[in-house]
Amino acid sequence: MLRDGFIISFPFLSCLLSLILTGLLAVNGDVQKDFYIVFMRHHPVNEETVRQSHIDVLSMLKGSDVEAKESHVYSYTKSFNAFAAKLSQDEANELSGMDGVLSVFVNKYHKLHTTKSWEFIGLPASARRKPKMESNITVGLLDTGITPQSESFKDDGFGPIPAKWKGGKCGHFANFSGCNKKLIGAKYFKLDNNPDPSDILSPIDVEGHGTHTSSTLAGNVVANANLFGLARGAARGAVPSARVAMYKVCWVSSGCADMDILAAFDAAIHDGVDVISISIGGLTADYVTDTIAIGAFHAMQNGIITVASAGNDGPNLATVANHAPWIFTVAASGLDRQFRSKIVLGNGKTTSGVGVNTFNPKQKSYPLVNGADAAKTSSSKESASYCTEDSIDPMKVKGKLVHCKLGTWGADSVIKGIGGIGTIIESDAFLDAAQIFMAPATMVNDTVGATITEYTHSTRSPSAVIYKSQEVKIPAPFIASFSSRGPNPGSKHILKPDIAAPGIDILASYTPFKSLTGLKGDTQYSDFTLMSGTSMACPHVGGVAAYVKSFNPKWSPAAIRSAIMTTATPMSKRVNNEAEFAYGVGQVNPRRARSPGLVYDMDTISYVQFLCHEGFKGSKIAVLVNDSKPINCSALLPGIGDDGLNYPTMQLPLKDKAPRTAVFRRTVTNVGPSNSIYNATIRAPKGVEIVVKPTSLSFSRASQRRSFSVMVKVKPTSSTQMIISGSLVWRSSRHCVRSPIVIYYNPEDTEMKKMTELRSQMHE
Ligand SMILES: *[C@@H]1O[C@H](CO)[C@@H](O)[C@H](O)[C@H]1NC(C)=O
Ligand SMILES: *[C@@H]1O[C@H](CO)[C@@H](O)[C@H](O)[C@H]1NC(C)=O
Ligand SMILES: *[C@@H]1O[C@H](CO)[C@@H](O)[C@H](O)[C@H]1NC(C)=O
Ligand SMILES: *[C@@H]1O[C@H](CO)[C@@H](O)[C@H](O)[C@H]1NC(C)=O
Ligand SMILES: *[C@@H]1O[C@H](CO)[C@@H](O)[C@H](O)[C@H]1NC(C)=O
Ligand SMILES: *[C@@H]1O[C@H](CO)[C@@H](O)[C@H](O)[C@H]1NC(C)=O
Repeated sequence: MLRDGFIISFPFLSCLLSLILTGLLAVNGDVQKDFYIVFMRHHPVNEETVRQSHIDVLSMLKGSDVEAKESHVYSYTKSFNAFAAKLSQDEANELSGMDGVLSVFVNKYHKLHTTKSWEFIGLPASARRKPKMESNITVGLLDTGITPQSESFKDDGFGPIPAKWKGGKCGHFANFSGCNKKLIGAKYFKLDNNPDPSDILSPIDVEGHGTHTSSTLAGNVVANANLFGLARGAARGAVPSARVAMYKVCWVSSGCADMDILAAFDAAIHDGVDVISISIGGLTADYVTDTIAIGAFHAMQNGIITVASAGNDGPNLATVANHAPWIFTVAASGLDRQFRSKIVLGNGKTTSGVGVNTFNPKQKSYPLVNGADAAKTSSSKESASYCTEDSIDPMKVKGKLVHCKLGTWGADSVIKGIGGIGTIIESDAFLDAAQIFMAPATMVNDTVGATITEYTHSTRSPSAVIYKSQEVKIPAPFIASFSSRGPNPGSKHILKPDIAAPGIDILASYTPFKSLTGLKGDTQYSDFTLMSGTSMACPHVGGVAAYVKSFNPKWSPAAIRSAIMTTATPMSKRVNNEAEFAYGVGQVNPRRARSPGLVYDMDTISYVQFLCHEGFKGSKIAVLVNDSKPINCSALLPGIGDDGLNYPTMQLPLKDKAPRTAVFRRTVTNVGPSNSIYNATIRAPKGVEIVVKPTSLSFSRASQRRSFSVMVKVKPTSSTQMIISGSLVWRSSRHCVRSPIVIYYNPEDTEMKKMTELRSQMHE
């Protein structure tokens, strides 16, 4: 779970309940109404007639123009022919059978899922740039809004807004000082119209998440950024000269609604962004009903790459979100630094915990007590061991440090609120990212926790002190425990996540509207803060995509992604035994990505072919494709390989231990020197034979294409490994183009069965 996600998602959890209550619109007695999204067959007409056609459909359904207008919420008219409306389940069912209606699905709410990180992955401030080209690039983020007054978004030295920008002038909004030549667009979408007293109806960011991701992607260079002296350095985005457009779709109380996400994609595509970065959880839905997948497909057709977070549900397998093959899916890796606090116990023993504790102790030591021993009553002993609200007797913790087990985030606030000094929190999970505390606190593992308990019970007056956090060096990279893992729950042939980028303890800009923790009693505010999550990894890769595009403005989204994937730095299975399911191709390497030599390119038809191969019916694919011609899958299917897509990685699922042979067909395009020869190097794991034909590819001009096949032969094996990895590398004198080949054993296939069932249940 994302660290920031935890902070966010605890309030989220409680809000989710109220959402279920307020989100449903009870009208006419018992009939419950929900928001639905309705996709229509494409008519290339102007905005007003499209909107009228939506009202007409609703009038036909309701038998009344007035009711039609009442139920109509929004028309998506730019990139999609779709609308949102308030409907009952029966009405939705009826509508889905009507002429011209492609698909109807209920609106759901998604969850949200620094700067040393650029040096760490090899994009120092001195890296070669094309500032003119870079300043012609606009990155769009779908997030919680932005902080326009932040140093990261000042426009000193910026030239005029790129001529291709069609987003218009950004208006004046509540508590929002306005746009400039750096922050060129700011819009918000809240179609459910439910008031959110914790947020502001404007593109302003009161949460901090959107300000953080935007500044990581494209923030200006800000010297001497730090969090109370920690992580000090120059903060900057990947592309400091690029322009930023914010589309606020996530709200503090309700999360991020499908209908708002779709509206933001519609606007961003129209406005002319070059890259879309979305650090929002995809709901494990089918590609044709998942708004992020639908939006990203339309973006791709317009030449815009969508980069998304893999999710924070690791280390469990098959948790990766945003896994459509036209989305660039990013896992979170760790940097070589950690924030630790020294703890000294009254017996002189020294140990340490992890987390950001900005407080210097005011005394040499404080009395120490175990939460369970400070319970209000004997029956609250169990909850007191977790230091939950109202379980502890304030008299027993006054002026003391309290040792608690991790139950929910915020024990520091609970203890401080009843007169304690701070806490030592014990946990066996969530130790790879630093939690920020609002009182003196740190987080220790079970072993250290046991030592502390033993000490506490060994003396009549136990005491301890926690020092202010310091940076320590640790081995890196590694994948965060919270980063969602493969295998891909949507398409068993496509490896996801695609790539890893820094997502632990990232320093970037923050909002002045919220304290660092958002917890009761926190008085810490800062222009910069540390956050962790795949949400933070995503804008790193979004930034690299913009960087690559500034060197290669004509490349397709698939070519940009291929360049970034085939040049990544491999990571080690010894560090993360889920291997590619944790890190995809490995750690992003921006400088190599600029010039990959060869790319695996794809266009709309490639993906349509893939979807046909996956069993989607032509009429369902129509929701994705901006084209009125019907799709004939049978005409598209013959002659494609085992996975049906020219993807830069290869993945073979095995149902059982029987021998299996699969053939992958691939085509590469020369984007390097005109005359080049590439030779294949294969690394095959034990028990697997991999044969590439041909083994050499020669090119005599730019953009020339060459095809090859990769035969993977798996012998009967007694291997109990879940995932085995090999690779294919095309090498020339100047370039290395690497593709992991992953084979995994997937006997149950339950997720797949579910997906197949879902697909077959869709009416046609
Ligand atoms: C999508 O359809 C709209 C409306 O017809 C058209 O203006 C636009 O160019 C199309 N985009 C693509 C990529 O085909
Ligand atoms: C900016 O981008 C547009 C559209 O991609 C292009 O036509 C224009 O030449 C670019 N301008 C510069 C200065 O690169
Ligand atoms: C937002 O602006 C209004 C009107 O200027 C002001 O009253 C309010 O305090 C501001 N809200 C915050 C959170 O600053
Ligand atoms: C627990 O934390 C201590 C102090 O940081 C460390 O030395 C030890 O290796 C950790 N133990 C485990 C099992 O991770
Ligand atoms: C779809 O393609 C197949 C194979 O090319 C062809 O036989 C069939 O007539 C086509 N169907 C339609 C409706 O065009
Ligand atoms: C590729 O293979 C050919 C023939 O074996 C060899 O002459 C050439 O040097 C190789 N090129 C590279 C870059 O390894």
